[in-house]
Amino acid sequence: MGARWDFPVLLLIGLISNTVAEFCNVGRTSSFVRSANLSLDMPLDSDVFRVPPGYNAPQQVHITQGDHGGKGVLVSWVTPDEPGSNTVRYWAENSTHKQEAEGIVLTYKFYNYTSGYIHHCTINALEYDTKYYYEVGIGNATRQFWFTTPPTVGPDVPYTFGVIGDLGQTYDSNRTLTHYELNPMKGQTVLFVGDLSYADDHPFHDNTRWDTWGRFTERNAAYQPWIWTAGNHELDFAPKLGEYIPFKPYSNRYHVPFITSNSTSPFWYSIKRASAYVIVMSSYSAFGKYTPQYKWLEKEFIKVNRTETPWLIVLMHCPLYNSYVHHYMEGETMRVMYELWFVKYKVDVVFSGHVHAYERSERISNIAYDIVNGLCTPIIDSSAPVYITIGDGGNLEGLTKEMTEPHPSYSAYREASFGHGIFDIKNRTHAYFSWHRNEDGYAVAADSVWLHNRHWKPSGELPVAAI
Ligand SMILES: *[C@@H]1O[C@H](CO)[C@@H](O)[C@H](O)[C@H]1NC(C)=O
Ligand SMILES: *[C@@H]1O[C@H](CO)[C@@H](O)[C@H](O)[C@H]1NC(C)=O
Ligand SMILES: *[C@@H]1O[C@H](CO)[C@@H](O)[C@H](O)[C@H]1NC(C)=O
Ligand SMILES: *[C@@H]1O[C@H](CO)[C@@H](O)[C@H](O)[C@H]1NC(C)=O
Ligand SMILES: *[C@@H]1O[C@H](CO)[C@@H](O)[C@H](O)[C@H]1NC(C)=O
Ligand SMILES: *[C@@H]1O[C@H](CO)[C@@H](O)[C@H](O)[C@H]1NC(C)=O
Ligand SMILES: *[C@@H]1O[C@H](CO)[C@@H](O)[C@H](O)[C@H]1NC(C)=O
Ligand SMILES: *[C@@H]1O[C@H](CO)[C@@H](O)[C@H](O)[C@H]1NC(C)=O
Ligand SMILES: [Fe+2]
Repeated sequence: MGARWDFPVLLLIGLISNTVAEFCNVGRTSSFVRSANLSLDMPLDSDVFRVPPGYNAPQQVHITQGDHGGKGVLVSWVTPDEPGSNTVRYWAENSTHKQEAEGIVLTYKFYNYTSGYIHHCTINALEYDTKYYYEVGIGNATRQFWFTTPPTVGPDVPYTFGVIGDLGQTYDSNRTLTHYELNPMKGQTVLFVGDLSYADDHPFHDNTRWDTWGRFTERNAAYQPWIWTAGNHELDFAPKLGEYIPFKPYSNRYHVPFITSNSTSPFWYSIKRASAYVIVMSSYSAFGKYTPQYKWLEKEFIKVNRTETPWLIVLMHCPLYNSYVHHYMEGETMRVMYELWFVKYKVDVVFSGHVHAYERSERISNIAYDIVNGLCTPIIDSSAPVYITIGDGGNLEGLTKEMTEPHPSYSAYREASFGHGIFDIKNRTHAYFSWHRNEDGYAVAADSVWLHNRHWKPSGELPVAAI
């Protein structure tokens, strides 16, 4: 199924409906025609799910940032047969001195599934901008990987983030990951906007699909940090199976550095990395006034020092602005709560998933409404973030294709194709965002935009053209 309109028709409708004078252009619905095939989860005997050889060999190795400032790395892995060792051995590229860090091991049960031995080990006090090798496992089942620490935190440090959401484990998921890996822009860290394995779409939330997902993503996540956000498919809330604790498999398998940002929960936290300050929020934890998440965010935005980290990025699973039919207005309660702060603290960009498609907004806000004044239309706002929905990783639920019509003018571009994003920070004023669809060559950007930092606006920026 292709786009519904070709460009001239879209332009015409845009002109008729575009009554808000502030908008200089109408949004563009892509006319790209993609395959309509629904992708299935890759079979259990697929190459990407292969178990590494050796007795009790570590598998599902993945890393994330391990502290607030980027000198720590949190390494996680699973041993299938027995606890084995919690030790990570690591050394800088040009050093022969192997150091050791000691972690923890845990297991969990879900309905009739019992997990393997899940290890988490934080390595601290690393040097910035250095390649490290690391090893996990014992004897001939030892496995070696590497990562590169980020540069020292600072305002003009270039850094390249990948952005992936709603990945799942289909053939399309594999294409998305391959396209990210082979993109010549070379992402250094993945901002993952939630919905990881989609194990819950299988009978009894078959948690072996959490294990296959861990093995599938290891080829990237063992070598560069993935910054985790909890989505609705992480809830695994299944009272009929006797499973009442939300996020049980996710929170056992994917640890994050929430304590180092003084958060009380792994579902909301922050990190600094190079020139970026990343705030992770939880769409599926209480966020109303006086809740722990609210109280943490209230203090968090004030802490961000834009002289140190100019780029303020927010991740949350459910988008606040979404013009697709599916999940329409689901982010509205969160928007009413937090959009005011996003504008006040000049957030540069909000990345979300959930909607299985791509969409990029103009810089808009909708914060004037006070119940009685009737002011409830988004307006161009140069202090507002750009909202990017990128839940197009390629999971088994397929693409979200149906769009609200006409294309609202707050939405700059939308297209239902699988793909990934790259957020490429150049310096304190400029970052380049590009979206790459899986049908194109690895170097092709299907949509792209220069983002001008909201705190360090380049001089001479025009109020409307600038985004
Ligand atoms: C879609 O499915 C049809 C029928 O199974 C197949 O012939 C075609 O190659 C598929 N297209 C893509 C792009 O995978
Ligand atoms: C480490 O070794 C690599 C390869 O031998 C070399 O390219 C690099 O410059 C060295 N780095 C430092 C900090 O010595
Ligand atoms: C769990 O229960 C389901 C349904 O009875 C069954 O199909 C499955 O094989 C069981 N799995 C295990 C690991 O026992
Ligand atoms: C690994 O070591 C174990 C025990 O030391 C031994 O039984 C096994 O044959 C070894 N496997 C390989 C592939 O060398
Ligand atoms: C997944 O992608 C990788 C890299 O492109 C490829 O080697 C592998 O065969 C693919 N596996 C499946 C099941 O599609
Ligand atoms: C966390 O709180 C402690 C104690 O108040 C403070 O020293 C530290 O700077 C805080 N860390 C962050 C990242 O805000
Ligand atoms: C913000 O960061 C800059 C650069 O690191 C530093 O000089 C300044 O003191 C910081 N401001 C505050 C209020 O901490
Ligand atoms: C920041 O990067 C942009 C884009 O690469 C460039 O045009 C601009 O000159 C840079 N600013 C400075 C101060 O180097
Ligand atoms: Fe979702």
